[in-house]
Amino acid sequence: MDLFVVLALLGSICCAHSSTISCSNTQVWGPALDENAYLPVRYLFIQAYNKKNNKITKDLGDKAFQLTVHDEKAGRVRAWVTVLNLHNGTYIGRFRLYDHAGQLVINIKHAGNHVANSPYHLKGNAVYGEDCVCPLNRKKWLKALQCPTSYQQIETDLKSHQVIDLSTFAKRMIERFTPHHSICHYAVVNNEVYRQCHGDITDFKIFMDAPLLSITRKVSLPDFEFFINLGWPLEKSQEDPLPIISWCGSDSTYDIILPTYDITNSVLEMLGRVSLDVFSVQANTGPKWEKKVEKGFFRGRDSRQERLDLAAMSVKHPELINASITNYFFFKKDEKKFGKSVKPISFFDFFKYKYQLNIDGTVAAYRFPYLLVADSLVFKQNSEYYEHFYKDLVPWKHYIPVKRNLSDLMYQIKWAKKNDKKARKIQRAGTEFARKYLQPADIFCYHVALFVEYAKRQNGTVKVLDTMVKVAQPETNCRCRKLKKLTKEEL
Ligand SMILES: *[C@@H]1O[C@H](CO)[C@@H](O)[C@H](O)[C@H]1NC(C)=O
Ligand SMILES: *[C@@H]1O[C@H](CO)[C@@H](O)[C@H](O)[C@H]1NC(C)=O
Ligand SMILES: *[C@@H]1O[C@H](CO)[C@@H](O)[C@H](O)[C@H]1NC(C)=O
Ligand SMILES: *[C@@H]1O[C@H](CO)[C@@H](O)[C@H](O)[C@H]1NC(C)=O
Repeated sequence: MDLFVVLALLGSICCAHSSTISCSNTQVWGPALDENAYLPVRYLFIQAYNKKNNKITKDLGDKAFQLTVHDEKAGRVRAWVTVLNLHNGTYIGRFRLYDHAGQLVINIKHAGNHVANSPYHLKGNAVYGEDCVCPLNRKKWLKALQCPTSYQQIETDLKSHQVIDLSTFAKRMIERFTPHHSICHYAVVNNEVYRQCHGDITDFKIFMDAPLLSITRKVSLPDFEFFINLGWPLEKSQEDPLPIISWCGSDSTYDIILPTYDITNSVLEMLGRVSLDVFSVQANTGPKWEKKVEKGFFRGRDSRQERLDLAAMSVKHPELINASITNYFFFKKDEKKFGKSVKPISFFDFFKYKYQLNIDGTVAAYRFPYLLVADSLVFKQNSEYYEHFYKDLVPWKHYIPVKRNLSDLMYQIKWAKKNDKKARKIQRAGTEFARKYLQPADIFCYHVALFVEYAKRQNGTVKVLDTMVKVAQPETNCRCRKLKKLTKEEL
């Protein structure tokens, strides 16, 4: 082989692995490219490819791609736009539109040049901002978000509620659950929201008002009436359960569940008041797997005995566990046994550690989705509490199960250290699941699917009671565009 051939070979090896971005090969996909995928924040994914049409998996820096949006006619729009770097050639582009109602153009560029099929001219319906009260035809909306047609959890929850008798259910709910619990009665009529709360502590109603208002701004719902339970799982009767809706389920109760107010709020407030969401975590997953500290990590309040037990274990075995209580509230401080209470650290800093410990608080630990989407392995305490997606997860496939009393935790951590390849595989499966099924679209789809299934089972007329107050939409300058008349088929 002469020198020329060697050089040529080297050249081709080099270019096959080249991390020079090809604008035409780079791929862009995601709900933001569909005008009907109406969400608080619209998002898309960018995967860099090189000239040889190979995926680039190297970190290309935060500035590799620029995302901008403008109005087809007016130009400037009020929007908050960001691109998250997942540090492996993949990016998540996101934007929150305010009072925009018009034809939108999405531009994605690399070094000044459009990539993939950019600019994307979103035709058809106008693209509406989060402030607009312009509900879309439900079929169109569900299709644009690729919402699943059924959910196992919803079917299970509604099994014993084939008929919801509206003439008696409010009276029975109030008799059974008040005054000891706080519950709110909602009626959605003509896509407007009304409510009446019962009980002493009803501050959490804002976590039901907000998603209902946001959803009714975006998609037309059937008329329905329901009760939300603002506290822990409630309905103990298996024989005669009432269709109360809650944010968390348990094996010993029969509430109908919605995604937790925590994850729903992170969707509503994304690129706003809340900085922790399933996307922001993906861009802040700490060091690479090989470089992470091989210890179990935990920070949290003392809302359950096992959290204290864990902190005590960490004092005894700092070589395997770094766990501290950030706030003693329920239990008496015992620094000798449980260690000093420590200042909370940024959630993103959790991911310096390879093993994340998900220990229940008062009910399920609502951080589970955020732990899963990062690149660390999750150890989950066995629990009777569950959220809307838990039943789709498989222990040893998506996470490492740990006994309720944590008696096998040390053993499981040692197992993971010894079996790094298998541990990595479980981590990858858990992360992939969460990144795929816990996106903002999934959270909104689940709400709408539950409301629609629930409404189907009602018998009687949905009524707005005199004692209810209207939960009004915020003021907005947004004007909906006249939609072209929907044909019979579309309705
Ligand atoms: C980058 O990471 C995300 C999340 O783990 C993953 O879905 C994607 O496939 C990765 N991309 C590449 C090119 O490895
Ligand atoms: C536990 O974690 C915190 C935060 O990363 C760190 O500052 C501390 O030094 C760790 N403790 C031990 C004993 O490693
Ligand atoms: C922990 O729970 C298991 C059952 O899951 C039980 O066999 C074991 O004795 C318990 N350990 C302690 C220390 O309580
Ligand atoms: C619905 O309510 C009406 C009037 O109360 C009753 O006659 C009918 O049987 C109910 N339907 C079902 C399916 O329960």
